[in-house]
Amino acid sequence: MHPHLVCFNPECRKTYGISEVLYNCPSCQGLLEATYDFGALDAPTLKKLWRDRRMDNAPLEQSGVWRYRELFPFLEDLSHVVTLREGNTPLLGAPRAAEYGGLDRITFKHQGFNPTGSFKDNGMTGGAAQARRLGMKRVACVSTGNTSASMAAYAVAGGLDPLIFIPNGNISYGKLAQALEYGAKTFQVDANFDQILALVRVLAEKLGIYLLNSINPFRIEGQKSIVIEMMDQRDWKVPDWIVLPGGNLGNVSAFGKGLREMLAVGLIDRLPRLAVVQAEGSSPFYEFMLDGGAGDFVSQTHPETLATAIKIGDPVSWPKARFEIQTTNGVVERATEQEIADAKAVIGHSGIGCEPASAATLAGIRKLTAAGVIDKAADVVAILTGNVLKDPDYIYKYHTGQLKDPGGAPIRSTFGNAPVVVPNDADRIAELIG
Ligand code: F0G
Repeated sequence: MHPHLVCFNPECRKTYGISEVLYNCPSCQGLLEATYDFGALDAPTLKKLWRDRRMDNAPLEQSGVWRYRELFPFLEDLSHVVTLREGNTPLLGAPRAAEYGGLDRITFKHQGFNPTGSFKDNGMTGGAAQARRLGMKRVACVSTGNTSASMAAYAVAGGLDPLIFIPNGNISYGKLAQALEYGAKTFQVDANFDQILALVRVLAEKLGIYLLNSINPFRIEGQKSIVIEMMDQRDWKVPDWIVLPGGNLGNVSAFGKGLREMLAVGLIDRLPRLAVVQAEGSSPFYEFMLDGGAGDFVSQTHPETLATAIKIGDPVSWPKARFEIQTTNGVVERATEQEIADAKAVIGHSGIGCEPASAATLAGIRKLTAAGVIDKAADVVAILTGNVLKDPDYIYKYHTGQLKDPGGAPIRSTFGNAPVVVPNDADRIAELIG
C-alpha cells in the first residue's frame, strides 16, 4: 500500500491521499496521521544501513532525521528535502542531576544541539519538505517561540516565505530574535497561543498558506526520528522510561508512533514507558489523565507558566497523546514553577543546561521517584527540548533572586549563582576569591 493519510479517530479511520492539503479529517475533524506498509522492512538490514550512512558525507545521510527515512517514506522525490544537519543530538550522562532526580543514573537526550536550538528542527525538516513537495509558496505557524524559530530557518533555507504568529510579550527574546534574523514576517498578536492557532487556521484556509504547526502530520513524522536516533545510539537497548515535557503534545504523539512502528518492524523488542511532564499552571493534560483520560477533555482558558514554551491550555494533539500514554503504560506529572526553576539550575550545574520547559523533565522525575512510580534503579532518558541560551532572561533573574512566578510571588534562588560586582583592585579580588 502506498503511503497515505488516515484519520486517527478509531470510529472514523477514513483515508486520504498523501499529497492532499489537510490538517484534520474532513469527515469527522479528527487528527490525521501518515501511515505506511512496513511489511518489506528487515530490522538487521536497516540497522546496518543506518550505521553505514553515518560515515557518508552526503547531506541527506548526515541529517539525523533523513538517515532514518525508511520509517517515514512519505516523499517520492528526496530533492524536496531541506536539511540543516538536524538531529545528531547527544546522549549525555549527568550524575548530579541523577542524584537530584532520585535516580542511580540518568541520560539526557539534548535536542538543544539542533541547528535552531530545539527539537522542533527534527519535525520541521519533514514539514518543510512536504510544503515544497506540494508546491506551496508560503508557510505559517503560531508558536511559543521554538516552532517559529525553526520554521523560519527551514522555510528560508528552502525558498519558502515564513509567516509567524506569536503571543505578544509571551515568548523569550532569544526565540523572537531568531525569527527576525532568519527573515520571517512576524506578527505579534494580542491573544494567547490557543486563540492564535484558531486565527492562523482561518488565514491558512483563506490565503492558501501551508500550516506548519504540530497538527501537521509530516512534522510528527520527522519528530519520530528523535526516538529512532536515540535507540540507534543505545544500540537498540530500550530504556525503562522516556520523560519529556508536554505542551501542545505533538512530541509525545511522535514518540509513541515512532516507538510502536519500531516495535512492529522488529527494531526494538518492547516499548519503554512514556512520562509527560507539564507546568502546574498549564496542565490540562495532567488533569485529563487523572482518571486515565476517560472523561471529556477540558481545556484551560488562562494557562500560566514562566516556561513559556509549554504555556498552552488547549493542546491539539491530546487524543494522540492519550493513546500513546495508554499504550506505553505511561504517566503524566506536573511540576511547580519553583520545582522547574531548581531542576533547571541543577541541569545547568551539570555542565549541560537547557531552557525552562525542558527542565520540567527532571522536576517531574524527582516527584515520580519520590512517589515510587519510577524506580531508583530504572534506566531513564529525559528529553531536553531546548538550548540553554533560548531564555537567558529567566536564567539571570533566577540566579540573582529576581525571578517571580506568573502570580508575582518570588521564586527562591535555591541554587543561585549571582555575579559579584568588584572594584578594579587585584588585592581585593584575591581576597574575595580566597
Ligand atoms: N519544550 C520546548 C522547548 C518547546 O518549545 C515545546 C513546544 C515543548 C517542550 C512541548 O512540546 O508541544 O510537542 O508537547 N513548543 C511549541 C512551539 C508549542 O510553538 O514552539 P509539545
